[in-house]
Amino acid sequence: MSDAFTSQHQVCIAGTGSYLPEKVLTNADLEKLVETSDEWIFSRTGIRERRIAAEGEYTSHMASKAGAKALEQAGIAADDIELIIVATITPDTLTPATACYVQQQLGAPGAVAFDISAACSGFLYAMKIAKRLISDGAFSNALIIGAEKLSSFINWDDRTTCVLFGDGAGAAVLRRAAPEEGSIIATEMGTDGKLTHLLNIPGGGSACPITIDNAGMNLASLSMMGKEVFKHAVNRMKESAEKVIERAGLKPEDIKLVVPHQANLRIIDAIADRLSVPHERVFVNLQKYGNTSAAAVAIALDEANRAGLIQRGEHVVLVVFGAGLTWAAAAVRW
Ligand code: COA
Repeated sequence: MSDAFTSQHQVCIAGTGSYLPEKVLTNADLEKLVETSDEWIFSRTGIRERRIAAEGEYTSHMASKAGAKALEQAGIAADDIELIIVATITPDTLTPATACYVQQQLGAPGAVAFDISAACSGFLYAMKIAKRLISDGAFSNALIIGAEKLSSFINWDDRTTCVLFGDGAGAAVLRRAAPEEGSIIATEMGTDGKLTHLLNIPGGGSACPITIDNAGMNLASLSMMGKEVFKHAVNRMKESAEKVIERAGLKPEDIKLVVPHQANLRIIDAIADRLSVPHERVFVNLQKYGNTSAAAVAIALDEANRAGLIQRGEHVVLVVFGAGLTWAAAAVRW
């Protein structure tokens, strides 16, 4: 599904924010948990360490902290926010939505709040939904958040997955923009439901509730066929990034920064090569945080923004990939 910008109102990113829990889990720490090594993890993924939420720290808490920073940067009071969308696969509870807890924690009683589940692609799915709702005139602003507490859904005995993931949250405020301001120019998203088996959390839903009988089987943990996922990730991210670049009328040299999903440095390098974008114009922070699913691209965007890597009028391309399989991209004039 795609759209070039055709609607009434232009929509800009007015502020970004992120939050990472304090606790750092290094590759050396993981060497004590499973049979692995810093050398194996770093050479295969680029990851050195990841953050782990504290006891009693939930996805909504991290989401609210990231959201508050985005609101502050946008200069919008929580009271004035009209829509909150949280993208997560690790909600506080199956129902109500994590976004409802965030609405309460932020003090945003006027906001309509709901979650979406699109795994690592969730933040850009949320961006497209919010952009469209604002451009259509239904809302004048929105807070979109990617937030995950993946540490609660990891089998810490499984070395093929536990070394890859981490916790955190990232957020952006979208609002109606004047013509001279930046805008989300083009968005793209897609899904392939034939490949649900490649990456999933098999238990804990209605198909496979956790019971006394299966409680020891780690069914509510991430399960992944890494090599297969790798191939699809590179192809789908390349294709969707190319689509938004073309629709936005950009050439590779017009792109100031590509902010990709932060899962694996080899995937990111392969995409940079295929898009003909120099590696120094591709933002990478996965060495610090691992793969934080829906939060990853949002945290990366906030870090790039706060580091001054994207200035007003410059173009940034966001591109993501995740379970579903799902993928999405956005071209933004900052
Ligand atoms: N430490 C040490 N050895 C490990 C290990 C670990 N943490 N995890 C797996 N291994 C072993 C395997 O058991 C296998 O051993 P074997 O050859 O004796 O069977 C060997 O390392 C190679 O495993 P393999 O799965 O083939 O490695 P790989 O090169 O494909 O790398 C991933 C594995 C997960 C890093 C890689 O496939 C990947 O990044 N895939 C994409 C995952 C992803 O990005 N998912 C999220 C998408 S949103």
